[in-house]
Amino acid sequence: MDDDVVLSAPLFADMDPDQTQVLQASLTPLDAARGEVLFHEGERGDRLYVIERGKIKLGRRSNDGRENLLAVLGPGEMFGELSLFDPGPRTATATVVADARVQELGHQDLIAWLATNPAVAKHLLQALARRLRRTNEALADLVFSDVPGRVAKALLDLSTRFGEPVEDGLRVAHDLTQEELAQLVGASRETVNKALADFAARGWVRREGRAVVLLDVDRLERRAR
Ligand code: CMP
Repeated sequence: MDDDVVLSAPLFADMDPDQTQVLQASLTPLDAARGEVLFHEGERGDRLYVIERGKIKLGRRSNDGRENLLAVLGPGEMFGELSLFDPGPRTATATVVADARVQELGHQDLIAWLATNPAVAKHLLQALARRLRRTNEALADLVFSDVPGRVAKALLDLSTRFGEPVEDGLRVAHDLTQEELAQLVGASRETVNKALADFAARGWVRREGRAVVLLDVDRLERRAR
């Protein structure tokens, strides 16, 4: 297990090494390839996941088959906790975007563990609060921002997770298809494509398959406001 990545998850924050070992014994690794579904929206869930490597998208499907992505998560992030804290069906479908290894933790093990480590609850709450903050912002953007503004924001958000400095900017290997990127932004593939082509023509980004190099972060930030 890549301890550095897994132990950086909120679940493990401020833990003494003995406790870390106890919890690690409850984790089960799972390798999954792009396209594999870890669970479906509506199913009953009995475990949460911490991503060790790779990327996972969380999406919802409307009755007429359209898809919307709530988030794309990467190493050190967790998902599958909502159906524990608010017992009920899974609120989204989790699908592998880039070949992944996740660590599964049964809800029962987590509950027992939280009872003996109340400080960890604070970090979990913080992670949930951050998620709610992000979701509120995305909701407001859907109402108040235009598509290019939302594309700029999505690229900046993805860069905080997956960005790596390169000679002329910040390379964001998001591994999303154009369709998936559009689902994340909440717009049609054509409109998102047009916005990206416009950013590229202005020299703000360079497109490289399933990656984008951010060449002018300042301009993108201003466009995202
Ligand atoms: P759960 O409902 O068990 O299964 C789906 C998971 O998706 C959910 O737990 C959360 O971990 C995650 N999730 C749901 N909504 C969001 C969101 N708005 N942002 C990020 N992650 C989310």
